[in-house]
Amino acid sequence: MVGGLDDVVAAETRLSHVDGGAGRLLIAGHDVEDLADGMRFEDVAALLWRDLAPRAADAAETGRQLGAARRAAADMLPRLLQATGDLSPIEGLRAGLAMLADHDDGRDHIRVTAAIPVFMAALSRRARGLAPVMPDPRRGQAADFLHMLHDREPDPAHVAALDTYLVTVSDHGMNASTFTARVAASTRAGTVSSVVAALCALKGPLHGGAPGPVLDMLDGIGSADRIDAWLDEQLTAGARLMGFGHRVYRTRDPRADVLKRVVRGLRTGDNRIAFAEQVERAAIAKLAARYPDRRLDTNVEFYTALALEAVGLPRDLFTCLFAMGRVLGWTAHIFEQVATNRIMRPRSSYVGPWPDGRARAVAGG
Ligand code: ACO
Repeated sequence: MVGGLDDVVAAETRLSHVDGGAGRLLIAGHDVEDLADGMRFEDVAALLWRDLAPRAADAAETGRQLGAARRAAADMLPRLLQATGDLSPIEGLRAGLAMLADHDDGRDHIRVTAAIPVFMAALSRRARGLAPVMPDPRRGQAADFLHMLHDREPDPAHVAALDTYLVTVSDHGMNASTFTARVAASTRAGTVSSVVAALCALKGPLHGGAPGPVLDMLDGIGSADRIDAWLDEQLTAGARLMGFGHRVYRTRDPRADVLKRVVRGLRTGDNRIAFAEQVERAAIAKLAARYPDRRLDTNVEFYTALALEAVGLPRDLFTCLFAMGRVLGWTAHIFEQVATNRIMRPRSSYVGPWPDGRARAVAGG
């Protein structure tokens, strides 16, 4: 048995490739650094859905379809807000997506992708005692989200930074949430249901729930003179340092550098990056000393946290924002799974009691 399914190949995909040794990520045939250099959310949606979605369209038409679907999603807001009173944003989003039907008409991927920013902005505003702002279908997905969240014309630099973030996290091989999406899709559960399953897997702190805690860590450390003591205390207590380590990368996660550039572009004249880099260096050194045989380096979540903070986004939305980008990969993988489907059905090894009272491990159902 392989704990954590390490090195098990669960699917063939044309969507993305992670070379963990070289620290390289390809998405839809492009290096992530090139994709992040000027491509918008709609460009990457069109790229990932190309050849997979029925009636697949170019980026402009994809943008129009998403805009119209955001409008339709807004009609659900009264029901969503009524049903999710005391839930956190990610739990509210989970509830909201679960309210969408699986129509199986070739448009569910558009509906679910468009609903995420609409629901997220309204849930966040409700927490601040504010009424929802209606979507503007003429805007791109990133710009419309910022507009719905803040009810003002978004800063173009913030829109560009958010687009870069969404593109950077759009797909990433057989990560836990994508695998979950493919397992659900393999039962023919439907696109929306498979995305809801994926969102549940993303929520955990070992996957998509890490960036908020990264900022909590930086706040907890507070100042440069406390870095060593704070990190030592956490590691001694057996805690994981958020934003470090990865199942596949044996070197630095290339997405961390893309997002670090985003932070640099937005935060000039303060020492946030310098402080984060000090924490990063100390954390990597302490992890190397503790795990000399296992290289633990910076992952995407460390600079995600700083990039989203620099765009002025609240940390309780960070996991939802990850879903806003990763839904492109989930939906594309769902199409891919359905096109070549065989139901995912691994086996287990029985280690429980037998009627004769003798315990033994046996591979079976
Ligand atoms: N801090 C402290 N110790 C760590 C960390 C960390 N960030 N990462 C790994 N370790 C430890 C493990 O506890 C393990 O120790 P053990 O053998 O004593 O149990 C050892 O290093 C080896 O762990 P790995 O096999 O490399 O880790 P695994 O592949 O199981 O987990 C994971 C990968 C979940 C990302 C882990 O590194 C972690 O928890 N990181 C912190 C959370 C985080 O940043 N999550 C975001 C990941 S990126 C993403 O999903 C988009």
